[in-house]
Amino acid sequence: MSIHTPKIEKKVTLTTISRMKGVEPITMVTAYDALFAKLFDGEVEMILVGDSLNMSFLGEEDTLSATMDQMIYHTKAVCNGAQLPLIVLDMPFGTYTSPETAIKNASRAYQETSAQAVKIEGGKERAHIVEALTKNSIAVLGHIGLMPQFLRSDGGYKIRGKDQIDIDVLVEDAIALEKAGVFAIVVEGVKAEAAEAITKAVSVPTIGIGAGNSTDGQVLVWSDMFGFFEAFKPKFVKQYCHGAKEIREGLEQYRNEVKSREFPSSEYTY
Ligand code: KIV
Repeated sequence: MSIHTPKIEKKVTLTTISRMKGVEPITMVTAYDALFAKLFDGEVEMILVGDSLNMSFLGEEDTLSATMDQMIYHTKAVCNGAQLPLIVLDMPFGTYTSPETAIKNASRAYQETSAQAVKIEGGKERAHIVEALTKNSIAVLGHIGLMPQFLRSDGGYKIRGKDQIDIDVLVEDAIALEKAGVFAIVVEGVKAEAAEAITKAVSVPTIGIGAGNSTDGQVLVWSDMFGFFEAFKPKFVKQYCHGAKEIREGLEQYRNEVKSREFPSSEYTY
């Protein structure tokens, strides 16, 4: 049964998010432009300008070719559209290969947009990068489990946490990220038991995507959840509306009306 929750009325900060762990589930969606960001304003605590835009907007096969310029352009648009959610810019592949590169690129995110945090993929092997950023006052959202930017080195999109050994690895990753100063951790594509173990092991909120129902929050890609992305539908995606179908129906009606000269009628004419 769904409940009616009040709209968010105050600017969401890092402190708001930290305080929500164990109190109230956190909602996060992706957005890539001002129009949709405005629709999401006041409805969710966080917006992720995800590098998934490389697939759903640019039509590429994966996220790997997204660039810092692209992420900055879209984050500016999202910040123009939404005032209240905490906005996170997703650092693209290759932009945080060393602490110096990460600081240089993440500083651009802060200087050129009003994003409040950046997201980077990786566990304990990238904790030193997270630490370099947080020590330089750049807030970081971690991302462990299935990491789309590493699909080539990982040999494809693989669900994690299927046995105790891998659950222990994921828990170690989360603890290392917490020590390095992340304010929250995205946990993607892991078995529900693994996500639960991670969530219990850290004091920062976990935000799940394809990670079951015991994380501290959930994130979905907007074009998936509203039925616009039709190339494939992962098991964890619930479609809250059928966007592509409605657009097609609207377009068909428009085409028919233009062809039959029903549109524009006098109502739409100067
Ligand atoms: O790029 C993205 O949209 C993401 C989410 C899937 C968490 O990283």
